[in-house]
Amino acid sequence: MLKDKIAIITGASRGIGRATALAFARADAKVVLASRTEQDLETAANLIRTDGGEALVLPTDVTRAKAVETLVNRTLEAYGQIDILVNNAGTGSFEMVADSDPEVWTQVVASNLKSTYLCSRYVLPPMLARQSGQIINVLSIAAKVAFKASSAYCAAKAGALAFTKVLAEEVRGENIRVTAVSPGSVDTPFWAEMEGHPDLTLMLKPEHVAETILFVATQPAGMVTDEIVVTPPLGIL
Ligand SMILES: NC(=O)c1ccc[n+]([C@@H]2O[C@H](COP(=O)([O-])OP(=O)(O)OC[C@H]3O[C@@H](n4cnc5c(N)ncnc54)[C@H](OP(=O)(O)O)[C@@H]3O)[C@@H](O)[C@H]2O)c1
Repeated sequence: MLKDKIAIITGASRGIGRATALAFARADAKVVLASRTEQDLETAANLIRTDGGEALVLPTDVTRAKAVETLVNRTLEAYGQIDILVNNAGTGSFEMVADSDPEVWTQVVASNLKSTYLCSRYVLPPMLARQSGQIINVLSIAAKVAFKASSAYCAAKAGALAFTKVLAEEVRGENIRVTAVSPGSVDTPFWAEMEGHPDLTLMLKPEHVAETILFVATQPAGMVTDEIVVTPPLGIL
């Protein structure tokens, strides 16, 4: 389904990003795996290779402009083009505003929002030059719903939703499709730092979100999916 497509997936070392990389590789895409921890990326790449897929590991902190520029340049050196960018990297923090650490707050906004801007910023010139491309932003139900002790995360995801809409308008006439995928709770290491988190067994599995992202990536030409919201069967947990 994605034969000869080159896809950069951020936050590909675990959780939703890794499941998406596996799903894309099974659909014959060549996947570029980007997150900060090289060893975890190598583990994910080996899973993909064992499965018969092709993966390139490029450790990247997607909150840093120079690092993102290098990610894009090295992908172009390796494959000559970028067809799909999945902006999936992101972290959460679980602090009430009054008790929050400004550095943690800022980092959560950077990992979810600034990263989405930076990766889009640097993949766009080659996509515009080819008049072809797709950018899929993994947001969250938190872009629309207020959760206590999640101000940085909700603000970042709401900001990323606004950014996604603006970007979609900017490139609508350029054959570049932009989509927001907004999941409810997903059973991933994301929840490890939250005390008293919702029941992981009731959450979506990373593979559910990966299938949704693959669905978006394989839509026929002539249509754009602006946004998809997916939730666990019981809704918001
Ligand atoms: N789990 C949920 O319930 C849920 C629900 C809705 C939306 N989401 C969203 O889905 C996305 C993936 O989350 P997940 O649940 O799969 O979380 P996860 O298992 O914690 O994975 C997060 C990924 O992002 C990477 N990452 C974090 N900061 C980064 C940075 N500065 N630069 C590069 N990579 C970075 C991590 O790798 P390194 O730490 O090695 O860099 C890891 O690969 C996030 O955007 C999250 O907000 C999650």
